[in-house]
Amino acid sequence: MTTRIIPVDLFDLVVFGATGDLAKRKLLPALFHRDLQGQLPEGARIIGASRRAMSREAFRALALAALESYVGEAERSDELTRRFIGRLDYVAVDAGQEGGWADLEKILKQGADRVRVFYLAVGPDLFGPICERLGTHKLVTPQTRVVIEKPLGKSGASAKEVNDAIGRVFAEPAVYRIDHYLGKETVQNLMALRFANALFEPLWNSAHVDHVQITVAETLGVEGRAGYYDTAGALRDMVQNHMLQLLCLVAMEPPASIGADAVRDEKLKVLRSLKPIVGEQIAAATVRGQYRAGATNGAAVTGYLEELGESTSKTETFVAIRAKIANWRWNGVPFYLRTGKRLERRVSEIIVTFKPVPYSVFEASAGPVASNQLVIRLQPDEGVKLWLMIKDPGPGGMRLSHVPLDMSFADAFGVRNPDAYERLIMDVIRGSQTLFMRRDEVEAAWKWIDPILDFWKASPDLPKPYTSGTWGPSAAVALIERDGRTWHGDDDQ
Ligand code: BG6
Repeated sequence: MTTRIIPVDLFDLVVFGATGDLAKRKLLPALFHRDLQGQLPEGARIIGASRRAMSREAFRALALAALESYVGEAERSDELTRRFIGRLDYVAVDAGQEGGWADLEKILKQGADRVRVFYLAVGPDLFGPICERLGTHKLVTPQTRVVIEKPLGKSGASAKEVNDAIGRVFAEPAVYRIDHYLGKETVQNLMALRFANALFEPLWNSAHVDHVQITVAETLGVEGRAGYYDTAGALRDMVQNHMLQLLCLVAMEPPASIGADAVRDEKLKVLRSLKPIVGEQIAAATVRGQYRAGATNGAAVTGYLEELGESTSKTETFVAIRAKIANWRWNGVPFYLRTGKRLERRVSEIIVTFKPVPYSVFEASAGPVASNQLVIRLQPDEGVKLWLMIKDPGPGGMRLSHVPLDMSFADAFGVRNPDAYERLIMDVIRGSQTLFMRRDEVEAAWKWIDPILDFWKASPDLPKPYTSGTWGPSAAVALIERDGRTWHGDDDQ
């Protein structure tokens, strides 16, 4: 298996929030890996920006420490690390005031005709003020793009305000709304699987699919992010974006091409076809939970409220939803979504369960005939499994077994899977928007989420408690079992 590296055009990338967690954990390591692979052209610059006064040298030291923490030692040869660090510059800029903007202008003047990227790794309240100043300081050239991190608002209305503020300075083709799930290797593979194989498409509809499950389970808690997380909760943090994007990729019609608008048009149609869950239906079709003390990965952990230091929070750390899509292809097929923190295992997967055979010709002694399932594993151990029924090998008569045709991408291709951010940042520089969310998609997703948020807010009920290290509240099990189905679980691995 060979990898193909296509160098990108010469660029200046300005990271606002450059001393923050995202920059240290994800952005700098991602850029380093791309540099290591020879994808960054000679002279490309990465300019850190944040409010903190700091010299270029101090920023370089901070970046080096970040690489030491988040990039394996074997990958950090002295020479390549020096080359990467040499690309870094820093400017202290006050997003809401004039301080530092003239310095940024001066630095950028030296590369006026390069691709210019402003990456806003800051809170959404700063998106508007930063964009406004980028405009007034005339830093937006025809080759300029802006990258926005989530959360894009806290509701449909606030997302609209954020989008309006950005839109006053940047035209939509220059706006890159990151959903890092779209940059994951297996998510890309979902498109290949669906649209480069003739096998699945005829079965990919309500006549043959019984239901779809999408699980994004984490063992981590809210770590150092309780301040942000408590204002968000799992529905905003994971479902409004990542999970609905995955649902779109599973459910969308074949696009005319994999061009940005062709793909996003199809995803938008899915979002607009989501059956609203409103009023009393919300109690029946959704479950929210909050973790209590327990153990994950063999270690005792405290509960959410203790971590937060506040005992009255109603913020959910777990969500399960039964969604339906009201269109020709999917009418009547439930899409069960489940995500949570401090669950038993870290696993993200999409499971398409096909309808059972219409009639079993086998005797009862052969055992039950289970349904075929296509399991697309996003992480860890990326791969695809197709569960089939076969005859148990050997003598002993006809006994049936449910076994997977198993393709692990790591075993099959033996290549390192690039982190989602590597692909996404390179796509921004290349000017490819396919893997980024368009404004209307984000707003359509909020439209479906808003009534659930409002209902929960108004409800006197608290999120259902669950012990850390389990699969969430028992109500989530009941949600799917009421329909005569079960969550794809441990024994099906
Ligand atoms: C982020 C959420 O968008 O995705 C986090 O804000 C979550 O709460 C993370 O932990 C999960 O991403 P990944 O790539 O680790 O599955």
